Amino acid sequence: MALTRRQFMTNSATGIAGAGALSLVPFQVFAAMAEDGFLELTAKEVQKNLISEEYPASTLWTYNGESPGPQIRVKRGERVKVRLINQLSEPTSIHWHGIRIDNAMDGVSGLTQDAVLPGETFDYDFVVPDVGTYWYHAHTKTWNQVARGLYGVLIVEDDEEIFDLEHDIVLVLDDWRLGQDGTLDILSLGSTVDWSHEGRLGNWLTINGRPPHENEINAGEPYRLRLINASNARSFEIDPNSFKAKIIAFDGQATPEAQTLAYSPMLLGPAQRVDLLVQPQPGENFSINEMSDGQNYPLVNFRVLGEKKPETVDIRIAPNPLPEPDIENALTFKLHMSGGAMNSIGDAVFNGEQLEGEDFINFKQFWAFNGVVNLSDEPFFAVERNQSVIIEVFNDTSFLHAMHAHGHHFRVIERVGVDIDEGMPWRDTFMIGARQTTRIAFVADNPGKWLFHCHMLEHAAAGMITWFDVS
Ligand code: C2O
Ligand code: CU
Repeated sequence: MALTRRQFMTNSATGIAGAGALSLVPFQVFAAMAEDGFLELTAKEVQKNLISEEYPASTLWTYNGESPGPQIRVKRGERVKVRLINQLSEPTSIHWHGIRIDNAMDGVSGLTQDAVLPGETFDYDFVVPDVGTYWYHAHTKTWNQVARGLYGVLIVEDDEEIFDLEHDIVLVLDDWRLGQDGTLDILSLGSTVDWSHEGRLGNWLTINGRPPHENEINAGEPYRLRLINASNARSFEIDPNSFKAKIIAFDGQATPEAQTLAYSPMLLGPAQRVDLLVQPQPGENFSINEMSDGQNYPLVNFRVLGEKKPETVDIRIAPNPLPEPDIENALTFKLHMSGGAMNSIGDAVFNGEQLEGEDFINFKQFWAFNGVVNLSDEPFFAVERNQSVIIEVFNDTSFLHAMHAHGHHFRVIERVGVDIDEGMPWRDTFMIGARQTTRIAFVADNPGKWLFHCHMLEHAAAGMITWFDVS
């Protein structure tokens, strides 16, 4: 799964060397709580520096003035009550990515709710059934709103957490496209080239909204690092083995045990999360590097303090009670992904009309699922509640994609054409390379209308999106 190389912006004044020994600012819930117990998230424009004070500020869209927005931490089984207040100039909505949520609260405008108009509010009120690392983001013109900064972190804790907050480090990765002046490049939003190729890739990486920087941790102590990829289209390539980290969860779901990755590097696609366990040796400072640029680009450096040697710990995160699919009796639905640059899209029906010639450019639609471009009235499939389902996806395009199902987690049960073996993890988003086939299975136990789409947000906007119905 080779990724295209792009040069990142580097600047000696702002690069890692110049960043100094800043420690990571833990960002917790700062949101104002309304009297009725709703946490208020105000979507609004603010001016923020993405590089440093020496550069002009970018116009970002944020929740409560921050990107990432307020970190929301709740316990398993608790209610999350959030009031979205829209102070933007366009309609918006919030999707709670990876949560097995009540359909009416899924936040997909046009499918599960009406978009929240400027000046209006919407109350989200739902229960979180599973422990883990999740995130929330805008789901109206997602390619535009997420690129401008509209996302935040949602952590669901167990009743008893193994790690205290000092040992539970959230790292939100983002990839911004900056113009020559160092501000967010807004003019290129919606670029036809991005939509028909690999999506909007950036040239400036941030961790928790800040440039790569340094953090201090104690030797010998176990830490949980929660990595979240909030970028529109970049798949990060990271190597947990290079700092002896073990994987403890993918997309919020615990692995059966802390595991050493059998291959490297790993891809962390858009919207994916990985939780890592690290227990640093004295003096073994390390960095988490993004390697897809063909060079190591440090995202965050950890300086290891103290002399304590690590003792063996057996850290197991309790698994969530996900229903195991019944493969024997599952219904299989095939999804043929087509289109994009350097490929024929084949049949392409958009809003009931066959697209031809100039239509693709005129409608800015470049991709199809089973010959259907973008959402149609008919679902990809409809099943009764509790039916086990297999989706067999064939990526007949020249690009990598990050496929996401709403409202459910699935097991990746088979990968064809891939030389990595990652077992059969539970996920809500899986990566699929060009010409590969992947089969996923899950129990469609959550009633409602659910999206299934590429999380490279330009691809979804340009056609790679469908939905399924559970009744
Ligand atoms: Cu993370 Cu349809 O979304
Ligand atoms: Cu895609």
